[in-house]
Amino acid sequence: MKLFVYHTPELTPTDNVPECAIAVDVLRATTTMATVLASGGEAVQVFSDLDQLIQQSESWPDEKRLRAGERGGAKVPGFDLGNSPLDCTPEIVEGRRLFISTTNGTRALQRVQDAKIVLTAAFTNRAAVVRYLLEKQPETVWIVGSGWEGSFSLEDTACAGAIAHSVVQQTNLSLDELAGNDEVISAIALYCQWQDNLLELFHHASHGKRLLRLDCLEDLKYCSQIDILDVLPIQQEPGVLKKHISS
Ligand code: MLT
Repeated sequence: MKLFVYHTPELTPTDNVPECAIAVDVLRATTTMATVLASGGEAVQVFSDLDQLIQQSESWPDEKRLRAGERGGAKVPGFDLGNSPLDCTPEIVEGRRLFISTTNGTRALQRVQDAKIVLTAAFTNRAAVVRYLLEKQPETVWIVGSGWEGSFSLEDTACAGAIAHSVVQQTNLSLDELAGNDEVISAIALYCQWQDNLLELFHHASHGKRLLRLDCLEDLKYCSQIDILDVLPIQQEPGVLKKHISS
């Protein structure tokens, strides 16, 4: 297995695709997706365009759908939900499909949606992602951070490092055997420095600060928990993620 980390969708190559791609948006889209599926949501369907989201979700029965929209960290007016994972309780999401559009997370997913296997990761479901990689042993894995409007996000790269670090710990692979680019080494170093204090890291992150200004401290606390959700979102068709059932 060769692992590559790309800090943003813009830095991700466009001329080929890996066997397995993992989109990461710790604050908060991929944490929300893992939470929805862990809470019994039927699926998560992602859109970059809000009008398309509304149009496509119209064909879904009212009681079986939820519309979630976030721009600049805030809920889009008129939508059922914003992008807070704390809203995604079983009472609200069970049996429903979440139609979601967020500022950056959905863009990262769309960038890699042609890969053979597409997963999403956050700190909350890191162990489930690593378990899948170790079982399936894809030849090439790209971990793609969402960043913020084209720039680097500390928390996404730290999560990429958490995945890579765990793969190294659980295999006989050396760092050099695993790492396909220098970003893997720097992501592991970032994670190792902050692994016992991810919440503090989020306080230093520009998007963490943005969310704190929007009164979202509880979201930051939730997103900083590692390995609490045993769920793996996996793409079933372009833009549609469901809970992976291991065979
Ligand atoms: C995004 O996609 O940019 C984020 O998930 C924003 C957010 O925190 O809601």
